[in-house]
Amino acid sequence: MSKKPKPRSAPRRPAPAPLPTTTLWVSSQALDRQMLDYTAAEDRLWDGRLIAWDILGSLGHIEGLRASKLLTQGEYLRLRAGLRLALREVDAGRLTVSPEHEDVHTCVEEWLVQRVGKAGERVHTGRSRNDQVATDLRLYLKDRLLLLSAEALDLAESLLGFATKYQRVLWPGYTHTRRAMPSSAGLWAAAFAEGVLDVVEALPAIWTRVDRSPLGSAAGYGVPLPLKREAAARALGFGALEHNVALVQNSRGKLEALVLFWCVQLGHELAKLSTDIITFSADEFGFLILPADLATGSSIMPHKRNPDLFELTRGRAAALEGDLLTVFQVKSKLGSGYHRDFQLIKEPVMRGVDRLEGMLSMLAVAVPRLGVDPAVGRHILSGGPLATDEVMRRVEGGSAFRSAYREVAAAIKEGDWWREPATAEIIARRRSTGGLGNLGLATIRARLRACRRWSDREQKRFDAAMDRLAGRGGARGRA
Ligand code: ARG
Repeated sequence: MSKKPKPRSAPRRPAPAPLPTTTLWVSSQALDRQMLDYTAAEDRLWDGRLIAWDILGSLGHIEGLRASKLLTQGEYLRLRAGLRLALREVDAGRLTVSPEHEDVHTCVEEWLVQRVGKAGERVHTGRSRNDQVATDLRLYLKDRLLLLSAEALDLAESLLGFATKYQRVLWPGYTHTRRAMPSSAGLWAAAFAEGVLDVVEALPAIWTRVDRSPLGSAAGYGVPLPLKREAAARALGFGALEHNVALVQNSRGKLEALVLFWCVQLGHELAKLSTDIITFSADEFGFLILPADLATGSSIMPHKRNPDLFELTRGRAAALEGDLLTVFQVKSKLGSGYHRDFQLIKEPVMRGVDRLEGMLSMLAVAVPRLGVDPAVGRHILSGGPLATDEVMRRVEGGSAFRSAYREVAAAIKEGDWWREPATAEIIARRRSTGGLGNLGLATIRARLRACRRWSDREQKRFDAAMDRLAGRGGARGRA
């Protein structure tokens, strides 16, 4: 008798998360558990990153309420003490967004009401979660932008260090992936340093857009209360207000896209740099050297030394572009006002920012450890890639360019090679601005310092506002 096959048990579904018991809103009906879980879902995870900013945002908001005379001094002091304690609880890991809360705003308000009682019920006066989350996100973005800018500048500094050290090491420059003309380790690295600076220098324009306070716009239409929006904005260290209350919601997604576009520009710079490193350190090229401790191995081929770190940088730059695209897709078809779709923008923004952060800090460490092999670079350079140098030498001797070009082309055809210039001569003949004999590294360094001054100034201003709100000296709001 053949054995009956055992019925395969259906794959177990993971236990559903507990019902969010706390929502800030009330419903006349019992709520569908699946709906609540579906709408909050993984958003709590991303909200977890906002908790300190949410509390700091509330600390700014109560400054606005006080200035608007919407709180008594006693209520204000109780709220302030409660919120400051909440921040310390977050730092100690005792206050976190958990599955009982619909979102971070619910979590903080519920905690506050438990701590400070009736006064806690006043914290949401003149505010909606719509302007609250917009505020949280802007504080988060300001913090991350300053970090990313500092890391991008560190990378630019690494590249400049590499350029300085190896500025006299020649290797070929390529067009169409074919050897073209002399380039150098210095020219190559300094171009990336300038490329990174170009992007960092665009930051102040984005910053002024992010650096506007949404508070007081409430659900998107303001509130019929005498709110002094400026007071909350000032307390939070924002440079300005997001003026039109309806614009706050219209800007959601637009701002994030602006930030991610900036990130993508840096990502592309890093991807190009990575591709070059992968190529130039391959055996077939070999004039750039990947140190053994930065290379991975193969489980089957004992000789392999792989440039995974650069491949993953290139891959992450592509994924970062995907993050930007997600934001565009989610935001672009919505009418004005708040839409719950906006919630889905948090994930690509936070993922994208994380990706870039990791890429920048890894490359800033990796670049100074790259080596060069000057003999290999010089060897590959010989012959064809020096043909243009010979044309120009003849031009300087009085020949018309086109006839010098034809003469050298004919000589190449005949195999009648000319004397090759020495490395020093190749460099010395390139004195025009920005050429490999005149990299202008000091000017690039000055640009870098100017960017650092800007970032340091904004960082100080931001930290000072957060520290004042938190009632602490020195420590910063956590991401
Ligand atoms: N989780 C929401 C978001 O990120 C918070 C705002 C909720 N607002 C609302 N009206 N349901 O957009």
